[in-house]
Amino acid sequence: MQRAIGVLDSGVGGLTAVKQIQKILPNENIIYFGDSLRMPYGNRTYEEIREYANKIIKFLEYKNVKAIAIACNTVSSQIESLKATVPLFSIVKYGCMQAAEEAEDKKIGLIATVATVKSGVYDYTMEKINPDIELISNDSSRLPKVINSQMENILLLYELIKECIDPIYKQNVKTLILGCSHFPIIENEIKSMYPSLKLIDPAERQVKELKKYLIRNNMDNKKENGKFTHLYTTADMLEYVASIKRLDLKFTKLEEVKLMPGD
Ligand code: DGL
Repeated sequence: MQRAIGVLDSGVGGLTAVKQIQKILPNENIIYFGDSLRMPYGNRTYEEIREYANKIIKFLEYKNVKAIAIACNTVSSQIESLKATVPLFSIVKYGCMQAAEEAEDKKIGLIATVATVKSGVYDYTMEKINPDIELISNDSSRLPKVINSQMENILLLYELIKECIDPIYKQNVKTLILGCSHFPIIENEIKSMYPSLKLIDPAERQVKELKKYLIRNNMDNKKENGKFTHLYTTADMLEYVASIKRLDLKFTKLEEVKLMPGD
């Protein structure tokens, strides 16, 4: 099936999932939507998050995608209440599965947005996978936005990373879930500050599970090498350039679109 895979994020964060799709599912076409204009979603109400996510899902369905990878953890926390006619893949579920498998002890750290941590989605998802695991979480209300559009502010970036991870690290945590799609973009910075921490990027497992699903349902693209990766943003396209360069991401189109209130 040549229909594209849709990827939804609040900003540039989900480009890390696009990179994984290009690696793990190289035949697939991709349509990406990042709502940079309205981010950070993590500081918004759940009602707003659901409203924006439903609009993006409609946009992607209009583009005829066959499935949607919700790269945004904050949106994934609301997955049960989203409206879609195509299958939705939550990043949270796969982040928990991967971390539970890779952790060498029963203590796992989580860094995510305020809305994700407050929703408790990682706690109850992990509880179902392994009730013996203790999850130690911390949020950041500023880090995602800095990664999205102020990456040149290196000092602020390091300060916010430290503020977010130190309280978890001090509790002798060895495995850390990057529970916001923006965080894998700064994986190298985090590694340089906390070299002993094992970092879990949930997008990799999410895409592996998506692959299994597509093959099982005969929905994978067998015909040709992925012809296109279209990236849509609601904000200035220039915001994307830094992340695209950093990830060395290949794409065929980058376009700014408006998401109107009544859409
Ligand atoms: N992309 C969002 C996530 O993965 C975080 C960024 C935001 O707050 O908009 O949770």
